[in-house]
Amino acid sequence: MPTIKKIGVLTGGGDAPGLNAVIRAVVKTATNAGVTVIGIEDSFDGLIYPERSRVLTPRDVTGILRLGGTILGTVNRGDPFAEPIETPKGTFNYADRVLEMFQQMELDALICIGGDGTLAIAHEFYKKGIPLVGVPKTIDNDIYGTTSCFGFDTAVSFATEAIDRLHTTAEAHRRIMLVEVMGRYAGWIALHAGVAGGADAILIPEIPYDVAKVAESLRAREERGARFSIVVVAEGARPIGGSLSVVEEAHIGHAERLGGAAKLCGDELGRLTGKETRHVVLGHLQRGGAPTAFDRTLATRFGGKAVELILHGQFGKMVANHPPDLVPVPLGEVVGRTKLVPLDYDLLQTARMMGVSFGD
Ligand code: F6P
Repeated sequence: MPTIKKIGVLTGGGDAPGLNAVIRAVVKTATNAGVTVIGIEDSFDGLIYPERSRVLTPRDVTGILRLGGTILGTVNRGDPFAEPIETPKGTFNYADRVLEMFQQMELDALICIGGDGTLAIAHEFYKKGIPLVGVPKTIDNDIYGTTSCFGFDTAVSFATEAIDRLHTTAEAHRRIMLVEVMGRYAGWIALHAGVAGGADAILIPEIPYDVAKVAESLRAREERGARFSIVVVAEGARPIGGSLSVVEEAHIGHAERLGGAAKLCGDELGRLTGKETRHVVLGHLQRGGAPTAFDRTLATRFGGKAVELILHGQFGKMVANHPPDLVPVPLGEVVGRTKLVPLDYDLLQTARMMGVSFGD
């Protein structure tokens, strides 16, 4: 067993409800084990600048369990290795500077809470010699190797409530309402919120859609007497033979930003059905606000397990949820892969059998 006296904790990538619950669990469990915790601000950037880290005591994390966001701040950058670091002392290579500061701060290990991008960066630093453990975070639920991540349940709950609200106005005006949800290249949020909200069509990236088939299914509903429809569109959904709806192309250090899928589909549906359509983009509302009870407990479990792995010297691993257990999974097996919705997923099959259109 390694001697662990001082560890750092950081949050990277887009925020997700539950980040603070992980930090709180890390600080409380580590402190109780006699380990000092240093909170590192703004992902790995906090390791570059000495003034951007601070000791976290149990008192510092009191009351944060129910808060969205992250008390440490975060940055969502594609590849920090690509950018040189300018400091008053000169220009540094990002990775060298992080390694140097890790030593200078006398840290014994690091807990990196983040999505696929942050975990990939963490894996690089692990290979360069930093003993660390990853904690998966994403509202998208697309991290490979874990059945679930905190943040997803909160995002789905919010999207479901939004769909409930749209139902009443859609029905009053006999319109087609489209709801665009996040999820990047995976349709988990769209599928779960769509089913929970009783959507009539759900369009996900895993199943490119034929808008004529979606229109046909909505017309059939109309013939049965239902004169309004709800269509949930994942931001990564695209028509068969068409391309992703992108609002900003990827550029150095930044991933591409998706958006516009619901408008694209809604305009076509309006033309094909002759009905009034409106679309709503839920956007970052899905990432804000308090985590649900499920996300708070999962995040707390992840935080406690991460400290346990560190104390046992299980570095280079990610805490993963394999119900009913939490297990360590090598980061090398996780990075560079995306967990998409399997086409034989029972929820997808059930939705189909219930008559939900996936546009195929
Ligand atoms: O990965 C989480 C996520 O919210 C995606 O669902 C979405 O595509 C992206 O981040 C948005 O990123 P940003 O906060 O940089 O706009």
